Amino acid sequence: MKMSLKRFSVLFATALCTLPVAAGTASDEKMDEFIDDLMSKMTIEEKVGQITLVTYDRSFMTGETQSKGVAKKITEGRIGGVFNVRTLEDKINIQKLAVEQSRLGIPLMFGLDVIHGYRTIWPVPLALSCSWDMDLIERTASAAADEATSEGIDWTFSPMVDIVRDPRWGRVAESSGEDPYLGSRIAEAMVRGYQGEDLASPQSMMACVKHFALYGAGEGGRDYDMVDMSPNRMYQDFLPPYKAAVDAGAGSVMSSFNDVNGVPATANKWLLTDVLRGEWGFDGFTVSDYTSVGELTEHGLGTLAEVSARALKAGLDMDMVSEGIAGNLEYCLEKGLVSEADIDIACRRILEAKYKLGLFENPYLRLSEEPVDREKYRALALEAARKSIVLLKNGNDILPLAKDTRVALVGPLADTRWELMGTWAGAAAMADEGVSIKSGISRYTSSLVHTVGAPITDNPGLARMIGVNIERSGDPDSLIAEAVSAAEKSDVVVAVLGENAKMSGESSSMTWIGLQPTQRRLLEALVATGKDVVLVLLNGRPMTLEWENEHCAAIVDAWAPGLQGGNAVADVLFGEYNPSGRLTMTFPRNVGQVPIYYSMKSTGRPHIPFRKYRTGYIDCPIEPLYPFGYGLSYSKVEYTGMTAEYDSDASVIRASVSVRNTSDRSVSETVQCYVGDIVASVTRPVKELKGFRKVELAPGESETVEFSIPADDLGFWTPDMKYVVESGEFNVEIGPDSQNTLSAKVFCDRSSVCPAKILE
Ligand code: BGC
Repeated sequence: MKMSLKRFSVLFATALCTLPVAAGTASDEKMDEFIDDLMSKMTIEEKVGQITLVTYDRSFMTGETQSKGVAKKITEGRIGGVFNVRTLEDKINIQKLAVEQSRLGIPLMFGLDVIHGYRTIWPVPLALSCSWDMDLIERTASAAADEATSEGIDWTFSPMVDIVRDPRWGRVAESSGEDPYLGSRIAEAMVRGYQGEDLASPQSMMACVKHFALYGAGEGGRDYDMVDMSPNRMYQDFLPPYKAAVDAGAGSVMSSFNDVNGVPATANKWLLTDVLRGEWGFDGFTVSDYTSVGELTEHGLGTLAEVSARALKAGLDMDMVSEGIAGNLEYCLEKGLVSEADIDIACRRILEAKYKLGLFENPYLRLSEEPVDREKYRALALEAARKSIVLLKNGNDILPLAKDTRVALVGPLADTRWELMGTWAGAAAMADEGVSIKSGISRYTSSLVHTVGAPITDNPGLARMIGVNIERSGDPDSLIAEAVSAAEKSDVVVAVLGENAKMSGESSSMTWIGLQPTQRRLLEALVATGKDVVLVLLNGRPMTLEWENEHCAAIVDAWAPGLQGGNAVADVLFGEYNPSGRLTMTFPRNVGQVPIYYSMKSTGRPHIPFRKYRTGYIDCPIEPLYPFGYGLSYSKVEYTGMTAEYDSDASVIRASVSVRNTSDRSVSETVQCYVGDIVASVTRPVKELKGFRKVELAPGESETVEFSIPADDLGFWTPDMKYVVESGEFNVEIGPDSQNTLSAKVFCDRSSVCPAKILE
């Protein structure tokens, strides 16, 4: 119960109750009637108000521009939604302005970037995706909705489902990695988690799928940069997760900043209307990204009035911060740039969203003052962090460490709580209650010495961007000497290095994705002591770790693990938890291999190492350092007896493998199934993920893991944009990662369904 009825009636009774009472769960017909009636009373200015989304005075800032004069505009009915409002009290007051003081009392909708938790922070999305655990991901989204709605959030700008294949881009941290199949499953899970069974429930918030489309494919890994891509590739590799989220019922979609084949997504009719609504049947509303309507002028598409009209006509319903139509309404109407009918379409969609969210029935539905008991989400934060950690190397089985090992804990990130939260943790009031790696490890050993060892960076420009004060970092040589001395007195060195929270996320593209030179020098000195060095990495992107892989005894990728990160890292280091995370983004050897992903095509001259006239590099292997799907545990799991056959009655490939835990520890194993189309009428990737299963295996236990892959999932888009599934031979692979697999060939006879193999 989010708000006592008594409290609600006091508030609402004072409002101008000109609105008919609406039931949030009522049928579409009832909703239509309600909105018809409401819109018949609205002036055109009020309708434009509904499509206007703004920030508020004391907002979190997630862009450069702050909206002005908002309170007055709300009372004039000229605002539809407000986002980034910090406190519940502010939200209640703002809602009162809308409900009690505007002519029609239409409630506002409150948005926020609830990206990986609200108060309780989970690992960043890229990390969480490494759990390959859809149930966990759904539970984290649902818990985030519970916390956020208790403080007035109706609408989250999440999930971000952009496919990413370039780790230079800082926003890979917010993504679910490189693969469209896995990305689609995660997108669905998040939408289900946020929206629940009923959007009108006080614990549900509306999802906003972003950034539509192709934001992750910007040139050079630069944020906001252009994308030029064949439709064929879009449909095959980049659009599926957006569609999956839409199919899962996401209520809204955010357009992306980037240009798509010459037309910025914000004004791209083909994307926003033809694909999204025409092909996919999306019936929610679209919203621009932060000031992206206004930025169409920077793209060189015309004046604010012109570009705003163009975006609206392209199918963009709500304008975030630019107030493009709102500020130019008269001019737009006079010049015939937009008509009232255009505005009606967008306005109706926003009102529908509010109706579905139950806001007309109770504008204060999510503005309760009863706090959620967050205590219960601590265990979930720990589970999420543990399952997100990926063990990249474990030479000589040095991990897990024995209790009371003498540990030299080194590094600028070893004793911080805040940096573990990662990007987009603005509302993380509980960061103070977070657990540093130092405090996590101290639960396992009383013999722990911590030294900083090195500043995160000594690059002045970078330091300024990421909030590091080089002057206060101390003398580099003394820092290293102190760390070396601690190392010499220890059994093992645990070096916590990598990126702080600001090194990934929006506007954080980097050309160097290895450890910063200051940190690398420290690591070299530690390795030179001859002690085993366990590198614990905090990072929001895949990093280049060739040297580290060669010289460190073990590498544990903890990402930005969130509130319980320190405990989770310690649990992994000391074997309380058997690591189970698997990479969802390929780790290159060096930045020159980027973009890099597992589902590449063979080319006409497939790679042969260091052979002339073959694809690849002459100075570096073509293979990544760590492939997609990769991750170790403390157990050994054997894969044997793979089978695969085509069941023509059911039109599915049935494949199986036997997995056996030959170790004396229980393990959670992610069994992955890939399929490659050997001969097709177009070139196809060597393999693509088509299924995965997580199995829990007790010591010595074995299980037969079965996959049933619909033949319909094996198709592709032809050059003339038809989706076909051709008959022919497919290579099915099953294994613990994308490169280490067993394989079998099957012939899928689809001739009755799709006779058209081929090169006619
Ligand atoms: C980001 C979006 C975010 C929006 C609102 C933009 O800068 O690109 O992902 O939802 O700000 O904060």
